[in-house]
This record gives sequence, structure tokens and C-alpha cells, in this order.
Amino acid sequence: MAVTAVAIAVLASGRGSNLQAILQAAQAGSCPVVVTVVIADRAQAAALEIAQRAGVPVVQYIDPKAYENRAAFDVACGDLITKHACQWVVLAGYMRIVSEGFVHRFSERIINIHPALLPAFPGAHGVEDALHHGVKVSGCTVHLVDDLLDHGPILAQAAVPVLDDDDDANVLRVRIQQQEHQLYPHTLAKMVNQGFDLIGRRVVWRGGKG
Ligand code: GAR
Repeated sequence: MAVTAVAIAVLASGRGSNLQAILQAAQAGSCPVVVTVVIADRAQAAALEIAQRAGVPVVQYIDPKAYENRAAFDVACGDLITKHACQWVVLAGYMRIVSEGFVHRFSERIINIHPALLPAFPGAHGVEDALHHGVKVSGCTVHLVDDLLDHGPILAQAAVPVLDDDDDANVLRVRIQQQEHQLYPHTLAKMVNQGFDLIGRRVVWRGGKG
């Protein structure tokens, strides 16, 4: 029986290449989601234009400076997500730390992609930090969002070799993002098609197909 596509909200701050990958996979029928809401916290985020071009029903820039604090901003974002009945909240290059209230409001329904193999190199400079540390393998991680930064249970990871020629983080970042563009839609599809159980911190995919 075909799985019914679920509504998702995507929160982005920048280029929006992961949003684009999700939109393309949804369009191609390989990822059973409908991107219903896109929120950006930066007016110039290219993600807004990508969403508009793709015909996402609700595309909104929300200015953090218009709110008293992070919690109030997150309530405004959360209200939009709830209003449009989004089942998953997908952070895609969203460079804000979400508040505790937001995490609890969408408990175990927020996912993030990080450009390193967590728990190594959390934070805003995952690619640079991995390169400077001298690791030979880095990659990307899709994880559930909890109260701590880049810390929640891991849904999926992809490894990317660090090459001797990677003298600039941007060279490595390009290869990591190529993996991200496969991994994020693939993981979302698995979440909808298969589902998972959380056993402590471990994500165990249903149906025995890890
Ligand atoms: C992605 O590489 C993502 O892993 C990273 O920002 C990039 C956004 O690209 N996220 C973080 O560093 C979060 N800590 P995009 O806007 O083109 O999708």
C-alpha cells in the first residue's frame, strides 16, 4: 500500500541546497513528503526563493529582531508550523539554536543535518574543525534535535574521506554537501515509510531494515 505523503516544515537560514534536494526528491516521488511551510530567519536567504519557485504554499521570512527574545520568535515559528499541521520540522542550514520550549513543543519531531560525523565536531564550524583536527574521514549526520546543540539521537550518517588535497574547508564542504543532498531526503523517506523506535539514544528502524 502506498504511504500517504506527510506535511513538513523546513527552517533555513542560507543557500537552501538541502531544501532544494528535499523538494526535488518529493517531486520525483522518492520522498513521501509535502514541503508545506518554509521559514527563514534571514530576509536574503536563497531558500525563500527556492521555496517560492517550487510553489511551497507557505513561505515566510520571520525577523528575529521583531521579537523580544528567542523563545518568543520560536513561538511565532511554531504557531505557523502547527497551523499548517506539519508532522516534521526539518532544520536545513538553520543557523539558530532553537529554544527549549520549541524542542518540547515538537518533541522528537525536529530533525537537523550537521556537516560532520557527530558526536565529533558539533557547532557552527563542523567542516573546518574536522579539517583542522586532521581526521581522515568526516561526513554528515541527520539527527533528532534535543535540548543540547547537535546532540540528539542519530538517524543516519554518511562518511566522506578527507583528502590530502583538501587544503581549504570549502573543498571538503562541497563533497560533504553532495552526501547531505542524498542522505537528508533518503532519511526523511525512511522516517515516513518505515518509522523508528527510540531505545535510549539508539534509533532502531522498524521492519529490521537498518
Ligand atoms: C549544510 O551543509 C548543513 O549541514 C549546515 O549548513 C549547510 C546548509 O546548506 N548546517 C550546519 O552547519 C548546522 N550546524 P544549505 O543552506 O545549502 O542547505
